[in-house]
Amino acid sequence: MTLLVVATGNPGKLREMQEYLTGLDWELTLKPDELEIEETGETFSENACLKASQVAIATGEWAIADDSGLEVDALDGAPGVYSARYGKTDKERIERLLFELGNELNRQAQFVCAIALARPDGSIAAQAEGKCQGEIIHAPRGSGGFGYDPIFYVPAGQKTFAEMTAQMKRSLSHRGMAIKAIIPQLKKVRNNEL
Ligand code: IMP
Repeated sequence: MTLLVVATGNPGKLREMQEYLTGLDWELTLKPDELEIEETGETFSENACLKASQVAIATGEWAIADDSGLEVDALDGAPGVYSARYGKTDKERIERLLFELGNELNRQAQFVCAIALARPDGSIAAQAEGKCQGEIIHAPRGSGGFGYDPIFYVPAGQKTFAEMTAQMKRSLSHRGMAIKAIIPQLKKVRNNEL
C-alpha cells in the first residue's frame, strides 16, 4: 500500500475519503498537525493544488487536498473562496449571506469542491471538481452538517443539507462528486499510468 497524506487536520474529512477510497490500495493518513498550509489562491482548484503540493513536499509522500465553498449567483459567486472567512462563526456567516441576499428572487447557488493529487515531489498528478446545485432559503432549516448547510436547499433531495442524513448528503454533495471524479486517476497512478 502507498501512503496518501490527506491535507487536512479534520478527521471527519479523512473518514469520508476513506469510505470512498476503500479497496484502492492507498493507505490514508492525516497531515502532521504542526504543518500549516496556506490558502492564498483565487480559485478552489488553485487552493487545492497549493495545499496538495505543500503537504507532499513537506512529508515526501503522495498528498491529496480539497478546497470548497459556496457560490451564490446573485452575489456574483460570493462568498466563493472566502466562504470560511465570510464571518467569525457559522452563525455570523449565514446571517451575513442572508442579509446580503435580502429579498433577491434569484436564490440559485452551488457548492463547489476542487480536489488535487500531488506526487511526493509536489508536482500535480491529477485534479477533479464536483458541484452541487441548490437554492438559498430565507431562514435556516435542520440541525445536521456544518457551515452553510441549514440555508442550502437541494431540489434533487428536497431537503437542506442540514436536514439530510450524512449518507444522503454524501451522495449529493460537491465533495462526494469530486472524490468520485478523481478515483479513476488514483487507479491510474497505482497502475503507473500517471
Ligand atoms: P474547506 O474547503 O473545507 O476549507 O471549506 C471552506 C468553507 O466552505 C467551510 O468553512 C464552509 O464555510 C464552506 N463549506 C464547504 N463545504 C461545505 C458543506 O458541505 N456545507 C456547508 N458549508 C461548506
